Amino acid sequence: MCGIVGYIGYREAYPIVLQGLQRLEYRGYDSAGIALYDGSNLKVSKTKGKVEDLKNRLESEISTKGSIGIGHTRWATHGVPNDINSHPHVSNSGNLVIIHNGIIENYDPLRQELLNRGYTFSSDTDTEVLVNLIEDVKTKENVKLGKAVQIALNQTIGAYAIAVFDKTKPNEIVVARLGSPLAIGVGENEFFIASDATPFIEYTNNAIYLEDGEMAVVRNHKKLKIRKIKDDSLVDPYVQELQLNLEQIEKGGYDHFMIKEIYEQPDAITDTFRGRMKTKEGIIRMAGIDDNLDKFLNARRIIIVACGTSWHAGLVAEYIFEEFARIPVEVEYASEFRYRNPVIYEDDVVIAISQSGETADTMAAIKLAKAQGAFVFGVCNVVGSSISRETHAGAYTHAGPEIGVASTKAFTTQITVLTLIALKLAKHKGKLSASEFRTYLQELERIPGKVKKALESNEQAAIVAKEYKDATNALYLGRGYNFPVALEGALKLKEISYIHAEGYPAAEMKHGPIALIDEQMPVFVIATKKGHYEKVVSNVEEIKARSGKIIGIVTEGDVEVRKLADHVIEIPETLEPLTPLLSTIPLQLLSYHIAVMLEKNVDQPRNLAKSVTVE
Ligand code: M6R
Repeated sequence: MCGIVGYIGYREAYPIVLQGLQRLEYRGYDSAGIALYDGSNLKVSKTKGKVEDLKNRLESEISTKGSIGIGHTRWATHGVPNDINSHPHVSNSGNLVIIHNGIIENYDPLRQELLNRGYTFSSDTDTEVLVNLIEDVKTKENVKLGKAVQIALNQTIGAYAIAVFDKTKPNEIVVARLGSPLAIGVGENEFFIASDATPFIEYTNNAIYLEDGEMAVVRNHKKLKIRKIKDDSLVDPYVQELQLNLEQIEKGGYDHFMIKEIYEQPDAITDTFRGRMKTKEGIIRMAGIDDNLDKFLNARRIIIVACGTSWHAGLVAEYIFEEFARIPVEVEYASEFRYRNPVIYEDDVVIAISQSGETADTMAAIKLAKAQGAFVFGVCNVVGSSISRETHAGAYTHAGPEIGVASTKAFTTQITVLTLIALKLAKHKGKLSASEFRTYLQELERIPGKVKKALESNEQAAIVAKEYKDATNALYLGRGYNFPVALEGALKLKEISYIHAEGYPAAEMKHGPIALIDEQMPVFVIATKKGHYEKVVSNVEEIKARSGKIIGIVTEGDVEVRKLADHVIEIPETLEPLTPLLSTIPLQLLSYHIAVMLEKNVDQPRNLAKSVTVE
């Protein structure tokens, strides 16, 4: 986590770095800082709190002049969030200044060594150790900054994206990455550095994404040279043209990114299947699958690795793949998979799902699977992200930037991609007839319209939210395809409103959670037609008998649940395997309204970050 930004060129660095930090705040927001060099002085300002707090403080504290600058927005790993632990960190001589996203795992012995050599530290951070290690190498070996960074990084264990400059040579910034993302925006006689491309999108469309283990010395007026940190070999820079525009990363009239992104789902889902689904011809085209069809068709099993909401999308995919393609599927938390010595066969296909494409645990799971010979396929949203580059092949979700920390459109577009894959494989395996296949494609085409319809429940969701906003616990129940939706509904509520919530398969309720039910407990039951409807209605009866408050998510025209529930929210009818694309919508809206009513920070909930690049 953490967001890093830098600028070197002919413009004033401050507004670029500050705005960049605002755009990267989704990556961490417990403290922020900026370092600028104005031609004679290095000025550093940093504070606990948000970028807005930094702005207020900085503008009264230091002059904002200078055309070289770096900034950081932090998600604390080493040391509590306070002013001192905030980045940038300055070396003991006062010459070097650094920002860092990641963790230096062996910082303690390095720190000890530096203490023995007379260095002092004011913070608890691994980053202050790193900048002094670089300084120590630079002085001892009498080398330039780039070389010193390289030597120092070769002594570290851990993960980093760093930017460092020397106030005595303020015409260059040295950057490096291992395990944390780093993009370089390439302009005319200017460079931008950032954790992703959003900070520089209005200045340049050309970006270089450093690969793991690469570094660069970025000098204004000079061509960029990229080297491998390990062996110093030169790498040809690959400049990508960005497909991102400013509008996509702004709120566009909505109060929060989350609600904007909830409402973007009809278009996002359309973008996901655009160009892939040929309903008339009865085909699905996906290059990543077409080019590797034999791997999928001959797969012994599919293992899905992911975290959080992406893991929930993986659970939906398990049902879909097994139902359509009849391939056995296992869904694993990436964080468990990577450490439990799993049995992986060469004819396994591993699907890694990640919105950001940067999640450290998912990345590690991919590396493990690759090392054991499996074919690894990525389902990512962020184009050019680390996971999309680490996997053998993949499919983008094309949801557009998701900025709200609570994942919404990423979830529905992940399910859309995975459904397309499952249908395609089912067709090739002869598990679906041509007409069944076409029926699914036709219904998928109707889904964006049905999501729009489901969004019409917004006002009603606000009414229900008002009634239950003061609950301290909530239960979410669903069966079959709606079980992962129940988990996702509970996650949405807890992460943005801090209300304790649990998701369960409805039938599991009687094995424990039923003990929790009393008149204080709101129970959100997803009871759509088909999908074990009668069984879920029986579960609703059981809740009713124990005085629980029932909020039913039901299919239009429902009668049974309506008779029992305190509230019902209707969604349009669809084919059962596509239900999660609709049933999740009212749950997203409910969580959103509850969090707003509780005056929580919807887009940046406490303790969280959008992209979890530490394990
Ligand atoms: O970027 P990823 O999809 O890999 O992120 C995985 C989780 O960190 C993420 O889904 C998280 O659970 C969200 N905050 C949920 O809304």
